Amino acid sequence: MNTSVNTSGHLSFSDLSFPDWMRYVQAQTEVALDRLLPTADTTPAHLHQAMRYACLGGGKRIRPLLAFAAGELSAAPVTRLETVACAVECIHAYSLVHDDLPCMDDDVLRRGQPTCHVKFGEATALLVGDSLQSLAFELLAHPLSDDPQIQLRQTFLLAQASGSRGMAGGQAIDLDAVGKALNPQELEQMHTLKTGALIRAAVLLGALCGDPPDETALARLDRFAASAGLLFQVIDDMLDCTANTTTLGKTAGKDAAADKPTYVSLLGLAGARDLAEQLQTQAVSALKPFGEKARRLTELTDFFVRREF
Ligand code: IPE
Ligand code: IPE
Ligand code: MG
Ligand code: MG
Ligand code: MG
Repeated sequence: MNTSVNTSGHLSFSDLSFPDWMRYVQAQTEVALDRLLPTADTTPAHLHQAMRYACLGGGKRIRPLLAFAAGELSAAPVTRLETVACAVECIHAYSLVHDDLPCMDDDVLRRGQPTCHVKFGEATALLVGDSLQSLAFELLAHPLSDDPQIQLRQTFLLAQASGSRGMAGGQAIDLDAVGKALNPQELEQMHTLKTGALIRAAVLLGALCGDPPDETALARLDRFAASAGLLFQVIDDMLDCTANTTTLGKTAGKDAAADKPTYVSLLGLAGARDLAEQLQTQAVSALKPFGEKARRLTELTDFFVRREF
């Protein structure tokens, strides 16, 4: 693979094809998570094995990819990107472990393997979520930026995106919506919070790892991330209906079986596909002023629409 590292530790990825760039960031994330998670023999070993099980060896690493892609806008050093990418991925992995619990979606398959609570028990799965959340903020508390104010802002953004006004809040709305028909505004709010908030955090944290973008650029990136985050969950809803369990690595058809409101139940498959295309257009147009530096973000948005799992 043809990459070069300049003196600031910023990797030049520009020669890589999109699939090679993706594989590179995915591999980099795996290595960094492996290093940053407590080892499997650290006491309590059962909990640490379960944390590693939940984080390693699977997943598309969409949020790390977004952080790295946004880091291209600000020439961000790879070491900082790795740290924020792992912090966001820890929150994401925790959200999946809790999402799969019997008291939530009650799923037995995740990333092609038994879910964390099936393998390690419910109490441990609960603690895995708690511990991954703490680890995310521990990572963000390490010296990371030359400017503590920026690091504080990154920490604030991730905390807000994870909590009751972000991912956890969206999950609460999701659980409350079982068996109900939400209107378009309500469904958008649920998806924007449960999935969009962390996607938005991944983008902004990545961009803040380098030369600080001005507020106009950050607001534009935020607009991109809002459309991309919603797009990601619209496609997740569609795949739940159209893909099979082996390809998805999680049980297909769960949303309809559990009577969850989704973009497919609201708009039908064709309507959801149209919405996804509109969101892609909105996302890409927000990136236009960034020019070539936004290439990876544009490619990722395209990947969100094409993905098959
Ligand atoms: C699944 O997220 C849950 C949603 C927020 C839609 P991903 O599709 O990113 O899951 P992994 O990390 O690739 O397994
Ligand atoms: C999950 O949404 C969102 C979070 C985990 C925050 P889903 O319940 O649709 O995710 P999957 O389909 O189980 O991956
Ligand atoms: Mg769910
Ligand atoms: Mg689920
Ligand atoms: Mg889903």
